[in-house]
Amino acid sequence: MELKFNSDFAFGAATSSYQIEGAAFADGKGVSIWDEFVKEPGKILEGHTGEVACDHYHRWKEDVALLAELGVQAYRFSLSWTRILPEGTGKVNPKGIEFYNDLINELLKYNITPYVTLYHWDYPNALELRGGWLNPESPKRFQEYTRVVAEAFGDRVKHFITFNEPQIFLWLGYDKGSHAPGLHYSEKRLLTMTRHVALAHGLAVQELRRQILDARVGYAPTCGAAYYPYEETEVNIRKARKLTNGLEKDDWLYSSSFWNELILKGRYHLKCTELFGESLPKLTKEESDLIGQKLDFCGMNLYQGCSVSIAEDGWLTLGKQPVGHAKTGMGWSVTPKAMYWAVKNFYEEYQIPLYITENGMSSLDVISEDGKVHDPARIVYLSEYLEQLQRAIQDGADVKGYFQWSFLDNFEWEKGYTDRFGLVYVDYESQKRIPKDSFTWYSELIKRQKHLQE
Ligand code: NOJ
Repeated sequence: MELKFNSDFAFGAATSSYQIEGAAFADGKGVSIWDEFVKEPGKILEGHTGEVACDHYHRWKEDVALLAELGVQAYRFSLSWTRILPEGTGKVNPKGIEFYNDLINELLKYNITPYVTLYHWDYPNALELRGGWLNPESPKRFQEYTRVVAEAFGDRVKHFITFNEPQIFLWLGYDKGSHAPGLHYSEKRLLTMTRHVALAHGLAVQELRRQILDARVGYAPTCGAAYYPYEETEVNIRKARKLTNGLEKDDWLYSSSFWNELILKGRYHLKCTELFGESLPKLTKEESDLIGQKLDFCGMNLYQGCSVSIAEDGWLTLGKQPVGHAKTGMGWSVTPKAMYWAVKNFYEEYQIPLYITENGMSSLDVISEDGKVHDPARIVYLSEYLEQLQRAIQDGADVKGYFQWSFLDNFEWEKGYTDRFGLVYVDYESQKRIPKDSFTWYSELIKRQKHLQE
């Protein structure tokens, strides 16, 4: 199928601060929970850390030139809270502001629209020591940080994402403990944190809109299990949708439904009272309105889905795949149809414009004898997922853009540097960048769109 998107559809690529910037302790940057967590023995594969990462802090100019060569219209990146406010609150670090000013100006020079994520998991350690997201003051601290960001960059940055995957940083960071800060909290505490994160989101949206009249604000959840019908029959379609919109005790925190009901509708999922009873934190009418204020768009980070298949005798199988089906380097299933169904189900439920804020695959890429990096599996992956996205748009979903994850190979959290998600290969020893075959493919796809629209 030929890929053809509207002229106002934004093709982009995405990264996040801790995963690429490095310079973890340079130029007055404060310590984040990730700077601390990576020091703990056994937490990160092979003891890797983000201290140097892709050294983007020093190589931003070269990196933006590569983005321009790629031809993207948009670049999604996150700000390091502690580079801007080293203690999370109070004193601003001018060097941090200068770094992001340079980056933003360079992007604009090439006509690349910045999409700024305020929070992609590198929480200030100083605030964590004061209770982190459990502290009732935490929403106000996020608002303060947002105010500094809006004042510094709001004249040039108009697109903002408040939180990246609240599901994951709370679940892995404070329940499972495999991400920073590596804690195991009770359900009651986790629920309290969700309330504070939601309030922080609401206050940030308000703050951005107060200061930047033409701000476009959204948030970027992961889409949980992303159920889709294995065989596209009525009964499977219905069941997949029911599972997507439902809520269960064992994966509520990871689900998309808990978060989308809260952030997009300003209320708890209808099953919450049954699941949590008295532990469910109360929300006043004002709080619900603040949390659920209308967003300009919603993001969706989508990598894989869980298939749903009901046999003639009614037997339900979840996660069915053909024998020998494709998987990514991290063992994630390649399930392009999840893109179509996740987008369709989401849009029918919430009717709000959408961006795919992340999509891509990891592989164990290597430099070949010809000095190039050949990654045919990534090209297949991206083209199949984009085909399904196009199908969802044709069926009525209002999707404004697509951000490939990731522009550069980078620090993949607890998995360190082993898995590579980039369109650009990074040789971490020399910091040399080598655009992969998928880079050329993606840039040609973007160029072709311009011709198709002429
Ligand atoms: C989602 C996260 O936002 C990003 O940080 C991570 O690298 C990708 N998923 C891949 O795991």
